[in-house]
Amino acid sequence: MYPRNPMGHPYFLDTTSSLPFLLLFITILVASQIPFGCTRQAHSSNFTCIDSERQALLRLRDSLTDESNRLSSWIGEDCCSWDGISCHKITGHVVALDLRNTVQPALQIFDPSYHSTSCLAGQYLSPSLVNLTNIRYLDLSLNNFSGIRIPTFLGLLKDLRYLNLSDAGFVGEVPQHLGNLAHLRYLDIGFASSNYIPIDNNLTSNDVGWVAKLSSLETLSLSRVDLSGAQDVFRVINMLPLLKALDLEGCRLVVPHLLYVNFTSLSSLKLSFNQFLNPTLPPWLRNLTRLQDLGLGANNLDDKVHDTFRQMTSLVNLDLGGNHFDTSTLRSICNISSLTSLDMSDNELQGSIPSEIGQFPQLTVLKLSNNRLNDTIPSSLWQLTKLQALYIGANALTGVLSEHHFAKLKELKRLDISLNLLSLHVSSSWVPPFQLQHIGMGSVKIGPRFPNWLRKQKEIEKLNMANAGISDAIPSWFGVLSNDFRGIILSGNKLEGSLNSFISVADVDKKVVQMLYLVLNHNHFTGSIPEDLCKLKTLEYLDLSNNHLSGRIPLCLGNLRNLRILHLGSNSLYGQIPGSLGNLGELIILQLSKNRFDGKLPPSMQNLKRLQSLDLGENRIADTIPAWIGERLSDLEFLTLQSNNFHGGISNTLCQLPYLQVLNLAHNDLSGSIPHCFKNFTAMESTEPGTFQYSNYTYHDPVLHNFKAGIELEYSKNMESVKSISLSGNNLVGEIPDEIMGLVGLQTLNLSKNHLNGRIPKNIGNLKQLETLDLSMNELSGEIPPSLSSIYSLSFLNLSYNKLSGPIPSGNQLQTLNDPSTYEGNIGLCGKPLLNSCPAGESPKENGPVLDDKGHTESDFSWFYAGFGPGFSVGAVGVVGILQFKQSWRYALFK
Ligand SMILES: *[C@@H]1O[C@H](CO)[C@@H](O)[C@H](O)[C@H]1NC(C)=O
Ligand SMILES: *[C@@H]1O[C@H](CO)[C@@H](O)[C@H](O)[C@H]1NC(C)=O
Ligand SMILES: *[C@@H]1O[C@H](CO)[C@@H](O)[C@H](O)[C@H]1NC(C)=O
Ligand SMILES: *[C@@H]1O[C@H](CO)[C@@H](O)[C@H](O)[C@H]1NC(C)=O
Ligand SMILES: *[C@@H]1O[C@H](CO)[C@@H](O)[C@H](O)[C@H]1NC(C)=O
Ligand SMILES: *[C@@H]1O[C@H](CO)[C@@H](O)[C@H](O)[C@H]1NC(C)=O
Ligand SMILES: *[C@@H]1O[C@H](CO)[C@@H](O)[C@H](O)[C@H]1NC(C)=O
Ligand SMILES: *[C@@H]1O[C@H](CO)[C@@H](O)[C@H](O)[C@H]1NC(C)=O
Ligand SMILES: *[C@@H]1O[C@H](CO)[C@@H](O)[C@H](O)[C@H]1NC(C)=O
Repeated sequence: MYPRNPMGHPYFLDTTSSLPFLLLFITILVASQIPFGCTRQAHSSNFTCIDSERQALLRLRDSLTDESNRLSSWIGEDCCSWDGISCHKITGHVVALDLRNTVQPALQIFDPSYHSTSCLAGQYLSPSLVNLTNIRYLDLSLNNFSGIRIPTFLGLLKDLRYLNLSDAGFVGEVPQHLGNLAHLRYLDIGFASSNYIPIDNNLTSNDVGWVAKLSSLETLSLSRVDLSGAQDVFRVINMLPLLKALDLEGCRLVVPHLLYVNFTSLSSLKLSFNQFLNPTLPPWLRNLTRLQDLGLGANNLDDKVHDTFRQMTSLVNLDLGGNHFDTSTLRSICNISSLTSLDMSDNELQGSIPSEIGQFPQLTVLKLSNNRLNDTIPSSLWQLTKLQALYIGANALTGVLSEHHFAKLKELKRLDISLNLLSLHVSSSWVPPFQLQHIGMGSVKIGPRFPNWLRKQKEIEKLNMANAGISDAIPSWFGVLSNDFRGIILSGNKLEGSLNSFISVADVDKKVVQMLYLVLNHNHFTGSIPEDLCKLKTLEYLDLSNNHLSGRIPLCLGNLRNLRILHLGSNSLYGQIPGSLGNLGELIILQLSKNRFDGKLPPSMQNLKRLQSLDLGENRIADTIPAWIGERLSDLEFLTLQSNNFHGGISNTLCQLPYLQVLNLAHNDLSGSIPHCFKNFTAMESTEPGTFQYSNYTYHDPVLHNFKAGIELEYSKNMESVKSISLSGNNLVGEIPDEIMGLVGLQTLNLSKNHLNGRIPKNIGNLKQLETLDLSMNELSGEIPPSLSSIYSLSFLNLSYNKLSGPIPSGNQLQTLNDPSTYEGNIGLCGKPLLNSCPAGESPKENGPVLDDKGHTESDFSWFYAGFGPGFSVGAVGVVGILQFKQSWRYALFK
């Protein structure tokens, strides 16, 4: 649930079963005493559909786009036999319309813009629906009504018992008309957090008066409907005495202290991702004596008074993740012996795990990841014999785990102990008592041998043994077919040998391989990339970077049509980049850097239209910069062609990349001048981070190599904040275009080692975010613009070996950059930090207050920052980065 926890990685999602929903469907119709014929099989031919209703349905169908032909059965006279339709057995009226989109691509999380073709889509919902006068059940969830409002005419469907519009792309104010649905028992216009689908609603309700009229409601989900403008949400809820389940997750609510609660039948209450008026738990929670499920995640709660939980003895599932609770709260919760599931990940638990944890005889799910728990794991925890899921990753737990710890955990299916200070020491003949499906053992010391006990684990779907100290070959029994793998992460070990036997999938046809990710970077694998890899057709994420792989990229890699991320960097691969890679139309990140690829780029690469990051740096590619990069790859945010043999000019076509935030063409053989149209890189005009969202995945290794202050940095986290242009080490001529001074988000500008002439643009001081400015080894002349001293973030400056002249400006940040080498090799420069003082009358300019564009003087506040020196900007980036990261994990649930 809280994706910073390693097992909360999007790949470790539970799959939702459709069974409960089916039961609900039947229950509603039966409970409303409707004899219904549902499916074609159940349909007996003594009723036919009512013609006006058939017409209404056809109009509805015609108003929808149905790419995947889900409504193909909607033909012929008998609409009661159409998919999704149920009719009354006697009257023949349509009583249920279920168009929920149950088909979901495996891993849309990696690309939210990915269109789920199974959606029914429409910018219009036909009002003909009102002709279904007897309809009681309407489910349009998980489709794409791309931004229309919830139609008011739904308020005319007076018989409705069940209305589900969740995750269907509706926007705007929820119509009051829904308040007319007096019989409604289930209303869901929220966000289904268990479905990681890209479309959700964007609804608000500033006046929730309509809810009060739904007095039959038993289930209400408004999750993620913006209720921040609504008054009295709870006063209204208080008027729903039959309510059993209330979901108000992420509604931007401030949950008040209530003096009186009426909704005491409530058995499920979800209030995660809101705020409480007071950070302590409201006492009224205690009056909900039937409460079984309570979700209070990510609410900034922090309670030192623990009476509340002691009295909530009916609780079964408790989610307190993402708050500020400490270990004493956990102790008090240990009183609730009925609990079967407890989530306290991402809190402030510290010290040892309390031994009282053993007081939960029924506990099946325990999540304590991402806290500051230390010490060894108490022996009582290993007595929780019903545990099915144990997540204690990302703490500071210590100790050696061995066979006897796990001896009683026979039911265990999911285990995450990653990112602690643990080691696992078991005999090579250990046969675990459990069959694990998810194994999270990243950074647990397991090696040096490849763990033999995995051989007996036959249900593994997801395995993470990154950085586990394994120096071994992968044994032949551990092939990708030996389990139903969905994902394997073994990065950062010293795994050796060829990938062949591991990936050998000769009999792939006999078994459905559903591998989504294979992450083997930073190991010692040798040999070539096996062609069998191409049989893992469902792969979305493949990382073989930083190994010793050689040979050519197999042509068949182009068959992996679902690939989103392909990392093959830092190996010894050679030959031309195969044109077949152009078939990977879903690719978002392509990293082939630090190999020995040569020849030209295949033109087919222009089909990689979704590419956001292209890194071909440090190869031997000899080509001009193809026009299609600018013309076709219009989503590009990161482009690295550094250290190859790219030649010819930098064409204006490149300027068609508005999202570009890193352009690295350094160390090639490029000639001509710097295009003035660089001003079109609008992402660099902004100081806000870009939209790149793939750098925060726990197992996504560094994708961006960039030079900063002359040092190569690897960015993994917060890549989206980097803005940089590097054209160093080419044969560029002409002046530095003034237009570049408009790219005020730039942190790095490196134009060194070219033949640039003319003056340094005098408004260079506009680039307030610059940390690195390197213009050295060109033929720049004239004075150094005094505005340079107003770039307070500057921590690396090199203007050496040009033809600059006149006094060196001083003041502000420049005072800290006082190494003479910054300016050396410019015969005409004078003044500090150089040794030659300026001729009389030409003394170095102490800068007066610098005026910004708006004419404000900056000195009031900027001097304050300047005092922090170069370190400040780095620190600031760090803080911003962390906040942003927090924000993204917190809201990952809702985004
Ligand atoms: C339809 O069949 C049901 C039982 O299957 C029966 O009760 C009903 O009378 C039939 N209706 C007509 C119109 O024949
Ligand atoms: C939903 O539909 C709109 C309009 O047709 C489209 O722009 C958008 O990409 C669709 N969203 C998804 C996730 O399919
Ligand atoms: C409802 O059905 C009637 C009769 O078939 C038709 O005239 C009317 O246009 C329909 N209403 C809508 C909104 O489709
Ligand atoms: C509504 O639909 C969503 C998505 O299909 C589902 O997850 C949710 O449980 C449904 N809500 C109700 C109240 O049935
Ligand atoms: C409690 O519910 C009843 C109806 O069930 C209603 O009359 C009463 O006003 C409610 N109390 C409050 C404080 O809202
Ligand atoms: C909770 O219940 C107690 C005892 O029944 C009652 O006195 C109190 O007013 C109730 N509190 C709320 C907030 O409803
Ligand atoms: C609840 O906690 C208190 C204080 O820790 C303890 O005295 C009491 O025995 C506990 N009750 C149960 C039922 O565990
Ligand atoms: C565990 O953490 C607590 C509180 O943070 C600290 O006081 C204690 O020294 C730590 N113990 C160990 C063994 O590191
Ligand atoms: C730069 O942007 C402007 C305005 O958006 C556009 O007219 C122009 O064609 C662009 N230049 C290039 C070379 O793409």
